[in-house]
Amino acid sequence: MPDLGSHGPGRPAAAGDAWWRSAAIYQLYVRSFADGNGDGIGDLVGVRGHLNYLANLGIDAIWFNPWYPSPMSDAGYDISDYRNIDPVFGTLADADALISEAHALGIRIIIDIVPNHGSDQHPWFRAALAAQPGSAERDRFWFRRGRGESGEQPPNGWQSIFGGPAWTRITEPDGTPGEWYLHLFAPEQPDFNWANHSVRAEFEDVLRFWFDRGADGIRIDSAGMLTKDEALPEVEPGQPPGAAHPYSDRDEVHEIYRSWRAVADEYPARVLIGEIWIPDAARLARYVSTGELHTVFNFPYLACPWDAAALREVIDNTLALNAPAGAPATWVLSNHDVDRIVSRYGRADTAFDLQRRRYFHSLPADLDLGTRRARAAALLTLALPGSVYVYQGEELGLWEVQDIPDERRQDPIWCRTNGADPGRDGSRVPLPWAGAKPPFAFSPDAAAAQPWLPQPEGWRSLSVAAETGDPASMLELYRAALQIRRAEPALGDGPMAWQSSPDGVLAFDRGASVRCVVNLSAAPVAMPEHAGVLLASGPLDGPLLPVDCAVWLRNLG
Ligand code: NOJ
Ligand code: CA
Repeated sequence: MPDLGSHGPGRPAAAGDAWWRSAAIYQLYVRSFADGNGDGIGDLVGVRGHLNYLANLGIDAIWFNPWYPSPMSDAGYDISDYRNIDPVFGTLADADALISEAHALGIRIIIDIVPNHGSDQHPWFRAALAAQPGSAERDRFWFRRGRGESGEQPPNGWQSIFGGPAWTRITEPDGTPGEWYLHLFAPEQPDFNWANHSVRAEFEDVLRFWFDRGADGIRIDSAGMLTKDEALPEVEPGQPPGAAHPYSDRDEVHEIYRSWRAVADEYPARVLIGEIWIPDAARLARYVSTGELHTVFNFPYLACPWDAAALREVIDNTLALNAPAGAPATWVLSNHDVDRIVSRYGRADTAFDLQRRRYFHSLPADLDLGTRRARAAALLTLALPGSVYVYQGEELGLWEVQDIPDERRQDPIWCRTNGADPGRDGSRVPLPWAGAKPPFAFSPDAAAAQPWLPQPEGWRSLSVAAETGDPASMLELYRAALQIRRAEPALGDGPMAWQSSPDGVLAFDRGASVRCVVNLSAAPVAMPEHAGVLLASGPLDGPLLPVDCAVWLRNLG
């Protein structure tokens, strides 16, 4: 592996072991990035063909959504083999080649591990189904007798996060109706029992498997949910996550991450990143305390409305949360589970909440307004201290596709709620690379199949080819911002200092030399005195910063 500390056009802040403290991480959703073989589904050959695009974009690392063998009941978050690649994506040899090609370009690789649940096709689950109640095979999962005279009721009333009960009844090997198993997500995603030591040993081995192959980091799916109260108490309405919750953010989960950290620390410069949707900053902070995870995703920032006071509060809380452990903050505007930011920011309500997707989709979106705000948000986000995530397509300004025909939708959330929740397909539509009509070079010219989700015709102006070289495009804004972020020692990890500003305006300095000003108020505001404009999210009006516009300024002296 080359010396990743010195790659690219100057990256002092990311150099060496602590690269993750400043990294710009590109979230690559493999199914929708680029299709190399024409079956309408993105794959690793497709990624390898576009690594130069990512290098030119200026990112430091790629986080891959799950690429393992999977029946794809939840787009790969139902894994049947943690040590291989799904044939639809390629082979282990493709992954090895991809990792080394990315490293040669100075790009690190973060992979997604799903420890809360596997697939119902995982050999352990199949063995559990074939074994008897009370067996060692069943103890790796949560099998329980049902309630009621003949066990016909689920063991408790827990609900699946994807809708419906969190328990499914099995048929025993002798053909009789049998035990129930727990799945906090879809029935095809049985939860592992983390009180079982073979589960713990297995996942530590999986970590080593991928670290040995060169993975630089692990994104841990549903990281707060692994441990469960064996008494299976009901979840009280409104019960917050925490020590007393039956499965969300229980204290025991920290023991697991201390062991994972010990494994990661056997290797140089590896990073553990937690996906934890809990609102309590103090409890979130525990995950980055010494000897546990390196960083956690910043969902309060992701969900925050386009509002100066609300953003400032989230930013301050984030920094306060990470400070005691000396962990870097992370910043994320969107991902494969939430609405695309251009649509969100174009609505009358610019917040986001996983539980209220139907409501948000019911609001009309002004995409021009959303795009202006998304551009300003990009400069705000990329100026904040710490590491930052860019979800594929965000750099193109793609919008949420809300009119996917019902029969084309694939998300289990859509299916399990009978359409009450529109689900996440709209943020997962394959990328437009070039051309005037679908598949926009997502698939090769002679492709046999359509993209796995339909692309809007209107994306012709948002393809990589259409935006490249257009100074007004989102892509060129991201390229310029990422380049400046690399070149400016004050950006990335480090201190920030708020500056006084009018109501509705955010202004802060990074070091002595760089100031970021974002105008979320209803009127243009005068920019502070400065020595030069490094980058603006939209046209400036002389000395005025227009509404929904952000600017990076070079400070005087
Ligand atoms: C969080 C992932 O981001 C999401 O896509 C997935 O459906 C759930 N975890 C279950 O694995
Ligand atoms: Ca393919």
